[in-house]
Amino acid sequence: MRLGNRILHGGDYNPDQWLDCPEILEEDVRLMKKAGVNCVSLGIFAWSMLEPEEGRYELDWLEEIIQRLYDNDIHTILATPTGAMPHWLTDQYEEVRQVREDGVRNDAGKRHNYCPRSLVMREKTRRIDQKLAERLGRHPGVISWHISNEIGNNGIDGACYCANCQQAFREWLQKKYDTLDTLNKAWWTAFWSHTYTDWAQIKSPSSRGENLLHGLNLDWKRFVSSQQLDFCREEIRTVRKYSSLPVTTNLMAFFRPLDYFQWAKAFDFVSWDCYPDWHSGADELDTAAEAAAAHSLVRSLKRDNFLMMESTPSVVNWREKNRLKRPGMHELSSLQAVACGSDSVQYFQWRKSRGSSEKYHGAVVDHKYGEDTRVFRDVARLGERLLQISEKVLGTCNQARIAMIFDWENWWAVEDANAIDNHIQYQSVFLEYFRPFWELGVDVDILDMDCELDSYDVVVAPLNYLYRKGYTDRVRQYVDKGGCYVTTCWSGEVDDTDLVYLEKHPLEDVLGIAPEEVDVPDGYCENSIRFQGQSYQITGLCGLVHAKSAEVLAQYQHDFYAGYPALTRNIYGKGEAYYIASMNEMDFIRAFYRMLLHEKELECRLNVKFPMGVTVNERRASDRSLWFLQNFNRTAAYVEFLEPYTNIETGEVINGKIMMEAFECIILEKFK
Ligand code: GAL
Repeated sequence: MRLGNRILHGGDYNPDQWLDCPEILEEDVRLMKKAGVNCVSLGIFAWSMLEPEEGRYELDWLEEIIQRLYDNDIHTILATPTGAMPHWLTDQYEEVRQVREDGVRNDAGKRHNYCPRSLVMREKTRRIDQKLAERLGRHPGVISWHISNEIGNNGIDGACYCANCQQAFREWLQKKYDTLDTLNKAWWTAFWSHTYTDWAQIKSPSSRGENLLHGLNLDWKRFVSSQQLDFCREEIRTVRKYSSLPVTTNLMAFFRPLDYFQWAKAFDFVSWDCYPDWHSGADELDTAAEAAAAHSLVRSLKRDNFLMMESTPSVVNWREKNRLKRPGMHELSSLQAVACGSDSVQYFQWRKSRGSSEKYHGAVVDHKYGEDTRVFRDVARLGERLLQISEKVLGTCNQARIAMIFDWENWWAVEDANAIDNHIQYQSVFLEYFRPFWELGVDVDILDMDCELDSYDVVVAPLNYLYRKGYTDRVRQYVDKGGCYVTTCWSGEVDDTDLVYLEKHPLEDVLGIAPEEVDVPDGYCENSIRFQGQSYQITGLCGLVHAKSAEVLAQYQHDFYAGYPALTRNIYGKGEAYYIASMNEMDFIRAFYRMLLHEKELECRLNVKFPMGVTVNERRASDRSLWFLQNFNRTAAYVEFLEPYTNIETGEVINGKIMMEAFECIILEKFK
């Protein structure tokens, strides 16, 4: 999905906070032009300005601002204002306010905290959305809808636990299971004598009550995600009735409460808010790899380019300590988004508010000194750069041949397993398997278990504890037809109701192994594995498996399972499947991937030697490739080009050894 012919550059704009300062609003337009801003997101939290009293709508100011921006070649992404509720709504109708897990209803205030089942909330939302869409949904300056804001981000679990939601949950379950008997079996309720005999006995998981039925916990999470989505879909239906503009909302990438693969289906394109914790460690590499993973996830949701809807131009204000972006990092991190498939660099926020909790959050325009600040200059420089590269970049996209599985249902289930390691974090394990791909400069798509696998040469599924319905068949077919499937210990344990598989591993035939026990040697004894003549330390779970038809490529070195397989490879049909039985230091994953990428000729296609901390993303069109060569090191780095490429910004042809500055990004091209 493409919006116009420029990479979008701009961000959240809150003129609703400055309506009584017309000189500031005028100055904003002048400064926006100076900063190369061509797009803003408007109206995100403006409900009380758009509807100051129930049923009294005031949209003139918004239309005037949209028009003025449009006259200055600045487009608008128009938000529905449901991210925060006005007092007339929260105070008059208490049912719109969420109830927390402890049964207490929230007071008015804050944001992202409406009950998605409240009929009043739905009706008031329909009305304001209709007014906006009727009035502004065809304005030539408006290019997209932005439904609400960071839906579900209530700071806890995204859920409302009110009586309406409890009832809706029971109805949702009835629809899913039909009979209580089926539900009892699926949830294994005979355990501790918790068999349900009446639908009315079912309640959401509670720390004061039932939260040990894994099937209940899992279904509740599915329900919460689906209810928020249901509300969002209703907003989408309303705006679509009156306007044909594309629709998105700002997602949060690895946001645990909402299954974004389900969500993405509702939108014309996806967008997300990106706030990496730069400069927080000994180097930037974990942060950069994590940001790349998040961009890749968002890109994969619809397998299309996306928008980075928010990022900070300098600093956030909600971490314990909030560091400034060091010189160069703003440009690099913004171009990283583009390198990974974003067609925008948008900020939170255009101008710092004067009061309240975000008054010290970074912005393009500070409280003082207008255009005469380091941040403004950085943003303006980037604006120029984005404009210059727009023509070449738009119309290209990343075309990964490797996929990794990241699945929300698996996330919810594996961290609720009450098993061998109760601190296991799915996202961290996933990132350990992602980072070496990032280091090697190869793009990876990130899919859930429902996605199609056949277009990828390699699929890596770490910690794939729960198997969704149909998944094993699709993996079997994928490998049979020639695919390469890699998975790890603690995979294929439970089905989609969180019941443990009996008899044998559901992919035993494909993997050629029989997994038996799992150990966590942590603190008891160190262990290591031997692979290709090298020893690698164990860092977590150790699966004890027997090879059946699989060949053993690495073995444990110590303890009573010394000699047991730690890495196996099984030929199945025309393809092959690897099983990594142990969690190992990253050097093992690096060595393993290098072997795999070399065998399958999937290495980075930019013919350049680059050191750790420098990486590459490739955006392609049918006739050309663009490579974003990025140095995330805090110091200069040398890279060596083994053939000539053209720098798209300077026109210079680059070959041989060159030095990249700290945090530099060079964009190269080559025609086919
Ligand atoms: C986002 C949110 C914005 C702003 C920003 C601050 O999560 O959508 O409204 O609060 O964080 O970093």
